[in-house]
Order: sequence, then structure tokens, then C-alpha cells
Amino acid sequence: MVIGGGAREHALVWKLIQSPKVAEVYVAPGNGGIELIAHNLAISPVNIEALAEAARQYKIDLTVVGPEMPLTLGIVDLFQSRGLAIFGPRGAAALIESSKVFAKELMQKYGLPSARGRVFTSSAAAKEYIQSQPPPIVIKADGLAAGKGTIVATSRKQATEAVAEIMERQIFGSAGDKVIIDEYLSGREVSLLAFTDGKTVAGMVPVCDYKRAFDGDVGPNTGGMGSYSPPGFFGPHQIELARKNILKPAVSAMAQEGEPYQGVLYAGLMLTPNGVKTLEFNARFGDPETQVALPRLKTDLVDILMAAIDGTLDQMEILWSEECFVGVVIASAGYPGDYKTGFPITGLDRLDKEITVFHAGTKAQGGKIYTDGGRVLTVVAGGKTIAEARAKVYSQLSAIRFEGGYYRQDIAQQG
Ligand code: AMP
Ligand code: GLY
Repeated sequence: MVIGGGAREHALVWKLIQSPKVAEVYVAPGNGGIELIAHNLAISPVNIEALAEAARQYKIDLTVVGPEMPLTLGIVDLFQSRGLAIFGPRGAAALIESSKVFAKELMQKYGLPSARGRVFTSSAAAKEYIQSQPPPIVIKADGLAAGKGTIVATSRKQATEAVAEIMERQIFGSAGDKVIIDEYLSGREVSLLAFTDGKTVAGMVPVCDYKRAFDGDVGPNTGGMGSYSPPGFFGPHQIELARKNILKPAVSAMAQEGEPYQGVLYAGLMLTPNGVKTLEFNARFGDPETQVALPRLKTDLVDILMAAIDGTLDQMEILWSEECFVGVVIASAGYPGDYKTGFPITGLDRLDKEITVFHAGTKAQGGKIYTDGGRVLTVVAGGKTIAEARAKVYSQLSAIRFEGGYYRQDIAQQG
């Protein structure tokens, strides 16, 4: 069973059914594309009690969690208490994502390279500190805020306003009871994820993700508008350093803290002139990172997930292909703000065979596919080079149509 209904989950299902060990996949809640290859279950990812009941009812052998919310709510603790196999960190380990203060204090305690940052529990103290900092100044709400909790303020005035919004007007609710004020890091961002059983860290390939809505990295922050792998600027040397100095120490730190971390650990990194530094950790697969990483995975995903659960990842060799992949997200007009849904999507049946379309906000009705969310599709192609993969994806995108659909033209333009 896969929990979630985005393009990340579609990619997970697509990969899982390639395994000879997988007979059937259930997805809660799934989407219009997933429905074509698996069984959708109309259960919300946050209804963890109903999910545990479904796992029992459908005799699920393995559950994989996509989004952060069920992890934070303790879905792994619940499943484990009922003897149900599940891949992901327990609630107390998922704090590495659900509390930025927890993550920052962990990094400081164990000496992981990260932006210099200070934690504040009062807005007065935070505002006073801002007066001593050179802009840009980065303000982060402690808790989960649907990807909107980080503000990169270009002036002290804007930083002060962000603190007032988060801590006084509580725009993110109790997620804003604490804030971190971070030193601004400049450089290029990369997502480096790893499978871990709590001891062994088995790295995935690095991926670049595009968070801003519009070309040239302008516009509002989104869940991610595209991705590619591998990034040319983040080679084997950087990967090795990041694994040695960030991913491995983070996993041993969690074990030392008495909360061994099992699942996918996602490090959001900045390659700065002073080396690789951590921006954040997530407790799950990335979206849209997964859509371009999994096509490169040569090892059976089920074997990896089971080894992570059983604590035997040290006995596995995980192989990745050299092929390059580019993924472009098509979103509804207005996303990440308000948008309308229910528009028919055309052209999906006319695509080149080399194109893979992972659905996100879609639903199937009467043999047709309709839009049903903000991010609608991730369209992926591979090639010998990023340029080749990119050309393939972009040659097909205009064939996919729905009212108001938009996508970035510059994904993977700068390798
Ligand atoms: P986060 O919520 O920590 O994932 O941050 C969201 C985005 O804000 C990151 O992807 C970066 O682009 C940016 N960001 C976060 N922290 C910093 C920092 N210390 N310096 C510069 N940019 C940052
Ligand atoms: N692509 C960013 C994330 O999954 O958090």
C-alpha cells in the first residue's frame, strides 16, 4: 500500500509494480493516473486509524508513506504496534522535518554543516536580533506550514514583518510558536536523499528541484515545478562529502538521541563557496525529486524497502543508471494560490512512448482524465544527457492540454 496521491506516489507505484515481488498495490487516496495501475482507496492520508484498518483488511505486506503529515501523526508507530510492515520514520524521528528547531538543534549539537541560526520563542527577542543582522535574513517557522514556512527577507523591515505574521498573527498557527533566524546562504541547491535502516545510509542520486512558480526562479514558492538528475555541478566528490558530513552524521545523531531513523532521509543542501551546507531535512521522498530519481534506480525497490525495515541495508548493493532524467510539472492556472479544477485533460494518449507521465491532481471519470489539484502532472523523459532528456520532454509538453495549464520553460536549462 502506498499512502498519498501525488506524482511522487504515482512514481512509487510505477516502480513498485516493476518488482516481481509485487502482486497488487493499493493507494490511499491515489489519483486518476494511479487508478490505471493500482487500486485507489478513498481514505485520507491523515486518517491513520482507517489506513491501519485497510492494511489489515487487504492483507497488505508492506506500506510506503509518501507525505509528511501521516509520518508526523505517527502512522509508523501505529502500524508497528499492530505488527504491520511499514517503511518510514516514527513520529519522534519525523521531527527532523516537522520541527525545524529540532533539526537545527540536532545539527548544532552534532556539528553538521548548516546555516548559522538562532531559535526564538518570543517575537520581541526575534525582532531585536533582526536589527543586528545584515539582509537578506531568513525566517523559518518551526512547524509544518505546507512549504510556506520559510521567508527569505530582503530587508530588516520585511524580516520584522515576517516575524509579526508568524509569531503574533500566527498565520501558521502553533507552527509559529518558535522561529529560527538563519544566516542567508547563497549558492546552488540540491536535494540529496538516502534510504536508511537507522544504521546504514544508502544514498540515492542527487536531484535538483525548482521551487518557484515561474521561469528564472521568480514568483511564489510551490511544492516544486520540475526536477532533473544528475546535476552536473554536484559530482561524486560533493556527493561523498555530503554523505560523510551530513547524511551519515544525521542518522547516527538520531540513533544516539534514542530515536533511530528508518525510512528516507532527505537533505536539502546548498553548495556554497564554503562547502556543502544543510538547509533542511525532510522525512520522506521528495516531490518532484522522486519522479526523476526512481527511473534511474536499477535495484528492486521492494528489496531496498524491506532491508531498511529489517535493518539489513548493509548487505545490499543499490545500483543506479547513468541515464539522465528531466521532469516538468504542469500546474493549474493560479497555483500555488487559488485555482479551479474539473477541466478535461487531452493529449495524454498521443505522447511519444519514451515519455512517462506521473499524475498528481487528476481524477478519472467515464474514461476521461480531469484536473483535480494544483500540481496536475509531472512529465518525465530520459536521455544520454540532460540536454537530450530536456529536449524530449519539452517537445511533448504542448501536446498535453487543459484549460489554464502552465509549466516552466526553463527546467534543467542550466545543468
Ligand atoms: P526550507 O523551508 O528550509 O526548505 O526552505 C525553503 C527554501 O528557502 C529553500 O529551498 C531555500 O531556497 C531557501 N532557504 C532556506 N534556508 C535558507 C538559508 N539559510 N539561506 C538561503 N536560502 C534559504
Ligand atoms: N521538492 C521539495 C519537497 O519534496 O519537499
